[in-house]
Amino acid sequence: MSSSIALHTHLHWAARALQVVAEGRATHQALGTVPAAHRPAVQALLFHALRHWGSSQAWVAHLSQGRVKPRVKQLLCVALALLERPEDGVRYDAHTVVNQTVQACKQDPKTQAAAGLINACLRRYGRDQAAMRAQVLSDGLAQHNHQAWWLARIQAQYPEHWSALVAADLRSAPMVVRVNRRHHDALSYQVLLTQAGLTSTPVGAEGLVLDKAVPVERLPGFGQGWVSVQDASAQMAAHWVWDSPHLQAWTGSERPKILDACAAPGGKTAHLLELGDAQVTALDVDAQRLQRVRDNLQRLRLDARLCAADAAQSGDWQTEGPFDAILLDAPCSASGIARRHPDVLWLRRASDMDALVHTQATLLDRLWPQLKPGGRLVYATCSVFHEEGEAQATAFAQRTPDAKRSPASGHWLPQRLNDAQAAALGHNVAMAYDGFFYAVFDKI
Ligand SMILES: C[S@@+](CC[C@H](N)C(=O)[O-])C[C@H]1O[C@@H](n2cnc3c(N)ncnc32)[C@H](O)[C@@H]1O
Repeated sequence: MSSSIALHTHLHWAARALQVVAEGRATHQALGTVPAAHRPAVQALLFHALRHWGSSQAWVAHLSQGRVKPRVKQLLCVALALLERPEDGVRYDAHTVVNQTVQACKQDPKTQAAAGLINACLRRYGRDQAAMRAQVLSDGLAQHNHQAWWLARIQAQYPEHWSALVAADLRSAPMVVRVNRRHHDALSYQVLLTQAGLTSTPVGAEGLVLDKAVPVERLPGFGQGWVSVQDASAQMAAHWVWDSPHLQAWTGSERPKILDACAAPGGKTAHLLELGDAQVTALDVDAQRLQRVRDNLQRLRLDARLCAADAAQSGDWQTEGPFDAILLDAPCSASGIARRHPDVLWLRRASDMDALVHTQATLLDRLWPQLKPGGRLVYATCSVFHEEGEAQATAFAQRTPDAKRSPASGHWLPQRLNDAQAAALGHNVAMAYDGFFYAVFDKI
């Protein structure tokens, strides 16, 4: 059981942050105002609350009869998520949760008048929840903590696996690292982790999934670029690029030219450079995010040409081309990484989908002419929706006669493993992968 020291302070900040997300802003903005010393604990509470925000809002509506102001409502939501789903990292006994929530309420002048109401709601929940449960959790939003349009899409696209996918979105994701092959292979770095007291399991070619998440400073050689944090699914991208027959047969006197068309914050750019020698152009439309590519490459002592530009428009970046390979890690709904970014569950709108699908198709069409004959384009999205994955890739192949589709993972959804399959892989390895889509096209 976690310590209750300062829990009321963390509850107070988590409720404030939840209100920021309720107003439409992302978690990193919501956490930006939280004092640094409290941020890790508040983030754990906030993420947990976001994962159960559908059910907790239903409970609050029922228990308070809609009589609460926004900040009080969010405080109740954080508390009810803790009471409904006591999970590792956010496990407190019910008595502590109730007392600390009332204290958090009293500590804030904006909520202190509601302390009696909060106390009454939480005590009633403790007393009568079993009798109220069926009535409160009566719709898909309250039962599955996904918006109706998202749930309907997943149910239609994955009739057999939708409940496993939805449940996986509500679990926290393990920490996965990518070992920089220029310094170590995965197994020798695993030894360094063990010496540092960190247990891990190999996943993929350079990946290690840690039993417990730690601050990056505890990873041996992090500052010297020996290792980076990157999900196991994202670690596939650079391999699909380098596995191209064109690059495998490379005999040119110059290094091959690779375009990373949507590069920021640079995880895949760095991996491309760790795996082989290439002239990499890292493009991103967002100049601020591009700074993170610069920082990442600096830490890893790697070099790429960075360009802030729209990959769908002509620009200076094209003078580097044509390219031997292009990685298009396209902007998408992020529906495959909701477990790492639970605000996506609530901030993504059904109305975003058409624009995203249109942007992805435009980027595919505009980038294809920048590829040399024989070259390879890898299309990736961190989405589980077919429109951004298989349907997008199929449509592109149909309208592009010189694009030959080569084998790739397609929709990579290990979350749909059943319990026996997950146990065979090992729980940690099974949980190391986000939902992703990969398609590979070689130019005839
Ligand atoms: C999924 S993220 C890329 C993640 C990155 N590949 C990595 O592994 O760290 C998508 C990126 O595409 C960028 N982007 C969106 N539209 C773009 C466009 N038209 N041209 C270039 N970059 C774009 C966004 O700014 C965002 O950084």
